[in-house]
Amino acid sequence: MTAQNWPNWLPLRTNLRELSPYGAPQLPADAVMNTNENPYAPSLQLAQAISDRVKQVSQNLNRYPDRDAVVLREKLAAFINTLSGTAFTSSNVWAANGSNEIIQSLFMAFGSGPVIGFTPSYSMHPLIAKTTQVQWINGTRRADFSLDIDSAIEQIRSAQPTLTFVTTPNNPTGSSITLTEIIKLAESTQGLLVIDEAYAEFSDEVSAVTLIEKYPHIVVIRTMSKAFAFAGARLGYLIANPAVIDAMFLVRLPYHLSALTQAAAEVALDFSEELLGTVAQIRMARDHMAQDLRALGLTVLPSSANFLLFTGFTAPAAQLWQSMLDRGVLIRDVGLLGHLRVTIGNEAENKKFIDSLTACLGV
Ligand SMILES: Cc1ncc(COP(=O)(O)O)c(C=O)c1O
Repeated sequence: MTAQNWPNWLPLRTNLRELSPYGAPQLPADAVMNTNENPYAPSLQLAQAISDRVKQVSQNLNRYPDRDAVVLREKLAAFINTLSGTAFTSSNVWAANGSNEIIQSLFMAFGSGPVIGFTPSYSMHPLIAKTTQVQWINGTRRADFSLDIDSAIEQIRSAQPTLTFVTTPNNPTGSSITLTEIIKLAESTQGLLVIDEAYAEFSDEVSAVTLIEKYPHIVVIRTMSKAFAFAGARLGYLIANPAVIDAMFLVRLPYHLSALTQAAAEVALDFSEELLGTVAQIRMARDHMAQDLRALGLTVLPSSANFLLFTGFTAPAAQLWQSMLDRGVLIRDVGLLGHLRVTIGNEAENKKFIDSLTACLGV
């Protein structure tokens, strides 16, 4: 449904009338390479362990789940501590139905002033600002989409935001910023500096969670949807100073995280080595695919994530996207003139992508 055909009798908020819903196409295709998931499914052993646990939990579904998801938050804290050498406890962690819900909660709790992000970046940041009635400021990047830290600091100074969003590695461009650059931003930011690390596991940069102790206004969003290969379960989390977590309790809906989700995520964390086991392989495939794209005469943006943004083709992006779909390859038109984004798939998908693109380009 679009802005034009809302019926007059519907008391829809004015600022929502112009919006389109988030809508990455969910279409049948041989190679689904459009939403940055991990292409490798969980093992049968993990699926069995989840089923066993879910069966157990199901016998108690007449009761509400643990409202505070304490066991899960403890496990997430331990997981991050192992990865980053930190000493977080459950009081530093919040968990929700995907990091999208985390983002929404941040807006609800801290959107008392303007919020800035640097576009192009994750499209849900400005969209959730709209749905939560928060003023969004479109900060800018360089022409090559990299983030100019000095310019970002200037933009933050003039906007005086209560929340500053920085996505690293950035979606849809793939570029990341360094820890030193995050420190520079933190030292010139009032309000909260939100680092969206949805793709951090694919990058060589040290996580910003290591800065939270020194800079309590840094908050880090992570997800189990990407490298962790668990998108279907919907589990995102926030690592932050306990004061930030306390504020999350104010805006969450009671029992927002179902007993089934909590149970599945707890089991998955016990299998984290397996679930993250494909990251090195995906990174290698990414670098090969970038070479293949360059060999086709295309320009590929440097990526530390599990996707590539490419340009340099002559057809309109929407037309090339459709031609690829006609060949069974679903990639993403992110609305950037002359660019398309592809998620790294498994070996067969990557081959099908390159073969189909070669055919489409007539190379
Ligand atoms: C930068 C970024 N943040 C957050 C998300 C949301 O992920 P989820 O809600 O699955 O955790 C995405 C998904 O594409 C993303 O690209």
